[in-house]
Amino acid sequence: MLEGRDTAAVLVSPVANPPAPWTYSACYVDNAFGRVMATELDDNQGLTVESCIAACSARGNTLAGMEFGVQCFCANALTNGAVKGDEGTCNMACGGNAGEACGGPNRLSVYTSTGSVTVFPVPTPLKTGLPGQWAYQGCLPDNVNGSGRTFPNQIINVNDTTVQGCLSQCSAFGYPAAGIEFGQECYCGDVSDLAEHGATLVPESDCNVVCSGDPVHICGGSNRLTYYSWNGTLNDWKTPANTGRYEFFVPGVVVPLLVTLGINNKVSFVEKFGTSEFPNSTGAYELDLSLVNDFSRTWREMHVKSDVFCSGAVVLPDRSARHLVVGGWSLDSTFGVRLYAPDGSPGVNGTNDWEENFQELKLQRGRWYPSALVMSNGSVLVIGGEVGSNGAPEPTLEVLPTPAGGPTYLFMDWLNRTDPNNLYPFLHMLPSGNIFVGYYNEARILNPVTFDTIKTLPNMPGSVVSAGAGRTYPAEGTAVLLPQHAPYTDPLTILICGGSHPDTHIALDNCVHIQPEVDNAQWVLERMPSQRVMPCMVTLPDGTFLIVNGAHQGVAGFGLATDPNLQALLYDPSQPVGSRISILSDTIVARLYHSEATLLPDGRVLISGSDPQGPPPFPEEMRVEVYIPPYLTQGFAQPSFTVDEKDWQYGGSYTIHVTLHQGTTANMRVSMIAATSSTVCNSMGMRTLFPEFSCNGNTCTVIAPPNAFVSPPGWWQVFVLDGPTPSHSNWVRIGGDPGQLGNWPNFPDFTLPGMGPV
Ligand SMILES: *[C@@H]1O[C@H](CO)[C@@H](O)[C@H](O)[C@H]1NC(C)=O
Ligand SMILES: *[C@@H]1O[C@H](CO)[C@@H](O)[C@H](O)[C@H]1NC(C)=O
Ligand SMILES: *[C@@H]1O[C@H](CO)[C@@H](O)[C@H](O)[C@H]1NC(C)=O
Ligand SMILES: *[C@@H]1O[C@H](CO)[C@@H](O)[C@H](O)[C@H]1NC(C)=O
Repeated sequence: MLEGRDTAAVLVSPVANPPAPWTYSACYVDNAFGRVMATELDDNQGLTVESCIAACSARGNTLAGMEFGVQCFCANALTNGAVKGDEGTCNMACGGNAGEACGGPNRLSVYTSTGSVTVFPVPTPLKTGLPGQWAYQGCLPDNVNGSGRTFPNQIINVNDTTVQGCLSQCSAFGYPAAGIEFGQECYCGDVSDLAEHGATLVPESDCNVVCSGDPVHICGGSNRLTYYSWNGTLNDWKTPANTGRYEFFVPGVVVPLLVTLGINNKVSFVEKFGTSEFPNSTGAYELDLSLVNDFSRTWREMHVKSDVFCSGAVVLPDRSARHLVVGGWSLDSTFGVRLYAPDGSPGVNGTNDWEENFQELKLQRGRWYPSALVMSNGSVLVIGGEVGSNGAPEPTLEVLPTPAGGPTYLFMDWLNRTDPNNLYPFLHMLPSGNIFVGYYNEARILNPVTFDTIKTLPNMPGSVVSAGAGRTYPAEGTAVLLPQHAPYTDPLTILICGGSHPDTHIALDNCVHIQPEVDNAQWVLERMPSQRVMPCMVTLPDGTFLIVNGAHQGVAGFGLATDPNLQALLYDPSQPVGSRISILSDTIVARLYHSEATLLPDGRVLISGSDPQGPPPFPEEMRVEVYIPPYLTQGFAQPSFTVDEKDWQYGGSYTIHVTLHQGTTANMRVSMIAATSSTVCNSMGMRTLFPEFSCNGNTCTVIAPPNAFVSPPGWWQVFVLDGPTPSHSNWVRIGGDPGQLGNWPNFPDFTLPGMGPV
């Protein structure tokens, strides 16, 4: 026996001259404290030292190790405190060469291409030097009794997982709990996930796998998470006692796709006409808010000629504050240009109707899902879309009124490149006079004359698991401008909440904001209490934003979201970042695709629609609700005021007469909310100003904003706030009609407001 063993030992030996630059290092002990080489290749009965070296070399590794005659391992360093064994214990012949030593039981014949071998110590859990306020907690089981992942958000990184990297990613997206598993899987979630999955700490020794990107630290184990939590409050979501409430408002007659408050204080509803679910519809109705208790009189039937489904809309700065709707569903409708001048008054029917004539007036390019914007110079920018329903991109922009001469639409490569994830791009005029555009997960600033890109902004952060999540249709989020306060010298902030991933349909649970015009502009992320695609955000008169509607998962489109998000939120930009969101009330009505939210003149918010076209149980939703914000449910009477003049010039002084009930003019505020039109929760034209004012008794002088960059020409709802409580609004126009839209379009079958004062 003794004789035989000695004989075997001399029969095998390391290869003295392996293929250059490889050299033999030593016989190492494997598995004393865990595997010492990272990657094990498939067993090979024909293994030789040369074949293993070739395989590891091809993988780009600098170490090759042979074990047990037929196993080949590759790595760049040895881990788990590898120590050298007695050379005589690497005594097994290679499967493919009886003369070569290929390790032994738990012994590795190690070769190196660099001439040296780095050995890392036995890894330990990383407990100090953690980013932010992260703290080590211990080892946690995953998938307890098949209950699913302890934490919902999984990021796999086969080669580069580190504790610091995982923790930083989780907290950057607002997750205060993190676990790392099996060396290469990072999970982000909440501390409450532990209880939900029955996960309680297990012995630390259960977590025994080295991190794929950090050879000296532990990253969980098999079904085991190295668990960390954030020490402190990462998301300071408020749960106020006074939440306001949803209330049923009026039975609807259609599911509106475009909802617009007119200067007649009535609400225009326009629905998909021609492709409607309801053959009894004429496509357009107007809601008289003063008659909601008399269903037979509250809706006025109106008429459109083409299908507005998938159009964009703005309120024009002309004397009549006409609603302009551009684009549409298919063929001729995609070229649609439609106008309505709101008339009548509460309780008194108007007689105006939608006007359109495809033969006379149309867009240069057909557009399905375009956006529109009244520019500072008073003309209208129409941008993007596709040539028809889910068709080829229409990556161009054009101006209305259409300039004379040949085609003047312009190709935008960035729209072409990001189709089909850039529909209803977010458009805003910036205080510099340039134009912000947000589309998919990108944003840039355009020159308002040439439409060339002036500045490319960083990409918007997506979800914690994917940078490929987006913010515009179909991964629909929504964008607003935060309020601008006199003297309007602070940089303007754009806030975008919600969205989704166009492929995975995982909805986003965050808002991001940026000041696009500051140097080195960066997105700042705030987590929301729940995921939401298709959110609507409504500016309230106190400068806060109501967030409602949408779904916990999916994307915009028919039947593409099924888990409604019923919870209203309030976003208050006057609070510090991370402390701005309050959780308000829940509705009982699923508001999915084609739902809208619209500020009413009395400070309530009208909530309409849902047009999912299946699957059950989500109906075509006709019921109209209102949200009564907390500022109206504190038992305070609303203040009131009158305005002497309605046609304001930039920088002018205008008199209002106020009646307050709680406070004095010393703690009064004045706010102005731009007229908008909302489709798929895109409030085109939205903007909020808090102008300067001074009072003498109950007579106050409001200073109009200084120029068309701070405040593009248009109509505004003016409110006064008595402490927290807003008045009803009065309409004013600021900046006139510099684009002379009142004389457009000059065709006999269009009614023109003309150019006089209002
Ligand atoms: C059309 O019919 C539906 C019921 O099928 C009804 O709910 C809706 O109010 C009607 N709309 C109009 C405009 O009459
Ligand atoms: C307004 O006109 C509609 C018809 O479109 C009618 O049903 C309604 O009763 C009228 N309302 C008033 C207040 O006259
Ligand atoms: C637009 O994008 C398509 C698809 O990527 C590409 O084939 C085409 O060349 C682009 N058009 C232009 C004018 O760049
Ligand atoms: C506004 O700017 C656009 C783009 O340069 C231009 O086409 C349009 O004619 C301008 N409108 C006015 C009223 O100057």
